[in-house]
Amino acid sequence: QSRRTLQSASAPPIPEFAFAFDIDGVLVRSSDPLPRAHQALAYLQSQRIPFILLTNGGGKHESERVDDLTRKLEVPIDTSMFVQSHTPFADMDEYKDKTVMVVGGVEDRCRLVAEKYGFKSVVTPGDILTAYPEVWPFSQQLLSYYKTFSRPLPAPIDSSSPPSSLKIDAIFVYNDPRDWGLDTQIILDVLLSEQGILGTYSGKNGQASLPNKGFQQDGQPPLYFSNPDLLWAAKYNLPRLGQGGFREALEGVWAALTGGEKNGVELKKIVMGKPHRPTYEFAEKRLMAHRKHIIGQYDGPLGNLKRVYMVGDNTESDILGANSYVSGEGVDWASVLVETGVHVRGTAPNHPPRKIVKDVWDAVAWAVTQEG
Ligand code: G3P
Ligand code: MG
Repeated sequence: QSRRTLQSASAPPIPEFAFAFDIDGVLVRSSDPLPRAHQALAYLQSQRIPFILLTNGGGKHESERVDDLTRKLEVPIDTSMFVQSHTPFADMDEYKDKTVMVVGGVEDRCRLVAEKYGFKSVVTPGDILTAYPEVWPFSQQLLSYYKTFSRPLPAPIDSSSPPSSLKIDAIFVYNDPRDWGLDTQIILDVLLSEQGILGTYSGKNGQASLPNKGFQQDGQPPLYFSNPDLLWAAKYNLPRLGQGGFREALEGVWAALTGGEKNGVELKKIVMGKPHRPTYEFAEKRLMAHRKHIIGQYDGPLGNLKRVYMVGDNTESDILGANSYVSGEGVDWASVLVETGVHVRGTAPNHPPRKIVKDVWDAVAWAVTQEG
């Protein structure tokens, strides 16, 4: 058959606009789908209007989360239309043959994600607590929990013979930590060590008087956060602390221990996720590839993607990110704020969106009318 006949005569051309949907507070509240979320996504799929899901959440492999979301939202979602907080970690090949520490999430699901990404030596704070319970006195009551999924360490913690002691080459916070105390202590043990060798202490990171002070001055391993959210919309009616809350707490302890920025010992870290530019660049590439895939199915004209409607509930991540993102492809990112999550109806948003609407269906209805 010729290329033209593959496209059914009635099929409209693929529109030149698309959507990026935040998940928590827009499509779901924890495990519960929000009213009209199914209706909104089903409508877009019936009209062949492309969309992706762009979340600061995570904790499971992309393939697992899209299966969950397909069941919850009753529309087919696949990994080509899905970007979550730690998705970009999958591309960090430089650490895949090194020993990395993965923090956060339920049990050791995030370790399993890292291993699916290709990381070959992954250690968790639970592994360290199981091997050395005295490392953190205040989680003894959780030892039986940790023992159900912890693994033996790739090397002992033996500060008397540093070369053989466990060395961490990078720390990745994949998802919201469940044991802030243990995770804070272990991350600080790594950051204050000599070159990431657990059990050692590097005076350089705490003593302003010493030369070469400060994090990563002494070959310290980098610290990656996947999600900046101080607050997020869970099932409870008020916003809850997210991974950004853990980071702020960690920064507070770091400052107390080392003097922090005022002492010139800033906690250097790389914070990824919305609202940061790399996340929107990554999402735009994925959306354009997904749109091309849809067009290929119908053999339609490619046309240009002119606008993406970023529908979110959090002004500090979704709205700020879309408002400040300048697309290298000339795409206009229009932010649409819904009132079903963190943002409270009637309050002035810190970062004004293109439009404020009640919920995700109203966001789609408004955007489609905008496009005529
Ligand atoms: O951990 C999830 C939370 O940070 C918010 O996720 O989907 O609203 O970007 P989301
Ligand atoms: Mg949200």
